[in-house]
Amino acid sequence: MAKHSDDVRDGFTSKFGIICAAAGSAIGLGNIWRFPYVVGDSGGGAFLLIYLGFIVLLGIPVMLSEFIIGRRGQRNAFGSFKRLAPGKPWYLVGVMGIVAAFMILAFYSTIAGWTLHYVIQSFANTFAGKTSTEITRIFEDFHTQAFLPLLWQIIFLAMTAWIIFSGVKKGIEKYTKVLMPFLVLLLIIMAIRSVTLEGSYEGVLFLFKPDFSAVDSGVLLAALGQAFFSLSIGMGALITYGSYIGKQNNLGNIAVEVSLADTLIAILAGVAIFPAVFAFGLDPAEGPGLIFTVLPNIFHQMPGGYFFSIIFFVLLAIAALTSSISILEVVVAYLTEELNLTRHKATFMAVIAAAFVGIFCTLSFGTLKNITISELGIFGLLDFTASNLLLPLGGLLIVVFVGWYMKKKDVKEEVSNRGTLKVRFFDVLRFILKFIAPVAIAIVLFDSLGIIDRLTG
Ligand code: TRP
Repeated sequence: MAKHSDDVRDGFTSKFGIICAAAGSAIGLGNIWRFPYVVGDSGGGAFLLIYLGFIVLLGIPVMLSEFIIGRRGQRNAFGSFKRLAPGKPWYLVGVMGIVAAFMILAFYSTIAGWTLHYVIQSFANTFAGKTSTEITRIFEDFHTQAFLPLLWQIIFLAMTAWIIFSGVKKGIEKYTKVLMPFLVLLLIIMAIRSVTLEGSYEGVLFLFKPDFSAVDSGVLLAALGQAFFSLSIGMGALITYGSYIGKQNNLGNIAVEVSLADTLIAILAGVAIFPAVFAFGLDPAEGPGLIFTVLPNIFHQMPGGYFFSIIFFVLLAIAALTSSISILEVVVAYLTEELNLTRHKATFMAVIAAAFVGIFCTLSFGTLKNITISELGIFGLLDFTASNLLLPLGGLLIVVFVGWYMKKKDVKEEVSNRGTLKVRFFDVLRFILKFIAPVAIAIVLFDSLGIIDRLTG
């Protein structure tokens, strides 16, 4: 059993700190690297609309549910379920989350490593005067080799571990408070540059003009996975953070504000990327390398682009860090609270294990490129399994837990802070948690796995 009791829990110190930490978790490579590349792979506008629908109808309710479970359980993802449902197998949702955390940390650190490399390349002005073909070739050469990508990945993981070492208040809150507004500002400037490039209009259409003829169950699943990944939900990261949120904070407001900020940043990234993709004649379905081949072209065409490029990649790396610490924290909170390891030992073990899996992800773009399962390499396989399968499944179980297992009175108590807040939409929320969210997630998940097709013959 865990030795901590609720009285001495480490926690966030202010409402602003909580929002920053949760937004810091949500806003990261998911918005700026993953969102554009998945939109590009999934055909554009229609995906965006479906994505927005999923955020509102499924994302916000799941996020709120995680906060409810965490703040009521006062433990890590695993321990909160154990406490709220003693003797029941619900803690397995927490176990699943811990597995997902390792997988995500592994491939996340690959991309974060690329980002760090691009910080240095921006300093070195590597892309100056290069054509877009040359920029693409430089990226190809870099990410398919072994040494540099691995080095940067390890450096990124070490930075993540270092922040986690120093504890919740001093660590997470401090690093997330000030920097995100700068990132937003920069993205706005880049978006303006992008839409004013010659030939960019096609990219605007690509992003905003829905073409539903291309939508199939795979696109729905991609939108669901991206929504969950971007909001950091479905694996207990926000259960863990929820357990650090004070009793006086309004969970519903936090969920809405964080989701809104996250979504706006993703759309901004889309507006920065796609017009430029078309203006430079690049391929929107380029895959995980998309931003690394597009962005240097944009900076080229900007007054002060040299500095913008440096600042942008630095901020992106920091955004990635505030996200990766929330993933590592899931594992560390579990190890310290359930297995009584010290914070140092827990962090060390977790990060070594993540690095071990992560190495294979990084190498899967080059050395291990030939290891594939149904056309996905190791990187793609881990990303797909964690983001598109484990997160939605976790989210499904989380809403079912709050909608069906927890007592209505207890849920209401958490959402209303023991009746001190007016919650006008409680019945709507409850209806969504009980029926709409579980059914919708289940349909997308099982449809894409071909189960429904098979059942209906
Ligand atoms: N949401 C983060 C991003 O957009 C990544 C992330 C952090 C995450 N914590 C998570 C994804 C928990 C899923 C689950 O970059």
